[in-house]
Order: sequence, then C-alpha cells, then structure tokens
Amino acid sequence: MAIRMIRTMGDPILEKQCKEVKEMTPRIRELIDDMFETMYDANGVGLAAPQVGILKRIVVIDTTGEDPIVMINPRILETSGSQTGGEGCLSVPGKTGTVTRPNYVKAVALNEDMQEYEIEATELLARAICHETDHLNGELYVGKVEGPLMDTDEYYANLEEEE
Ligand code: NI
Repeated sequence: MAIRMIRTMGDPILEKQCKEVKEMTPRIRELIDDMFETMYDANGVGLAAPQVGILKRIVVIDTTGEDPIVMINPRILETSGSQTGGEGCLSVPGKTGTVTRPNYVKAVALNEDMQEYEIEATELLARAICHETDHLNGELYVGKVEGPLMDTDEYYANLEEEE
C-alpha cells in the first residue's frame, strides 16, 4: 500500500469524465487499497480515483472511520429531501463551502469483487456519495457552493457565531 499524491483544483484531470471499470485486476485492487490509505492519511471521508490521477469510476468512502465502502461504477438511482451544510474536498485543501444535497440517496455500484449491490444513505453518507460521484463526472463541489468558499476554520467559527 502507498499514499498517492492528491491532485488539487486547477489540475485538468479533475475536470475529466472517468471510464467504467470492466474487470477487477491486481492493479485496481492496489489502487483501491492506496485510495483508502491516502484518504485516511488526509483525514478525508471520501476519495475518487481522479483525485489520485486515475480516470476510472471508483470511489472510496468512510464517513465514520470504521465503515469503508468501495463503489465501482456507482450510479445514483433515487434521491429525496435536501440537506444544506458545509462541504469540503481533499482536492480543495483547507476550504469549506455551503452546499445543498439530497438528504437521501439510493445508489447501485459494484464492490471490489465486482458484485453489484445497492446502498441507501442519508445525511453525511448521502452527501459523500453525491460529492464523490460528481468527481467521476469531472465536477468539483466548488461549482455548487452557495455563498463564499471560505477557509475551513473561518467557516466553522462563523457558524458558531450564528448559533
Ligand atoms: Ni472531493
């Protein structure tokens, strides 16, 4: 396993469409392991393959620190409700902005054994699935931010003042 370099905003690879994964290979297994290691090392809750420079439809998510999820070729089937809150991205380090996302998401994906599964998610996990799926289509969350994109410390300090 290895920590890979995380591409940051401005790198054109983050704006490209990713390709479907057709079969599992040792290289892709290694990529997935590396993506988890890279995400945990950076204290992230999700990471998409293009963020480490690979244009494949693969994301890893772990919103609790003990629930690793691999989504290969994910597709969102249903969404409902909405949530508005702070969102960040390892490719936009140190920044946070307010983004509205569905509060419920149902998605289908393949696991690392290329078996299809469905997942239903709410709140942070629903947000993460939307955010990471957007990466596979070359979209960064900054295009969806309502109001200013702020330094993360400042964002949460302002939030406390408002409460
Ligand atoms: Ni991101």
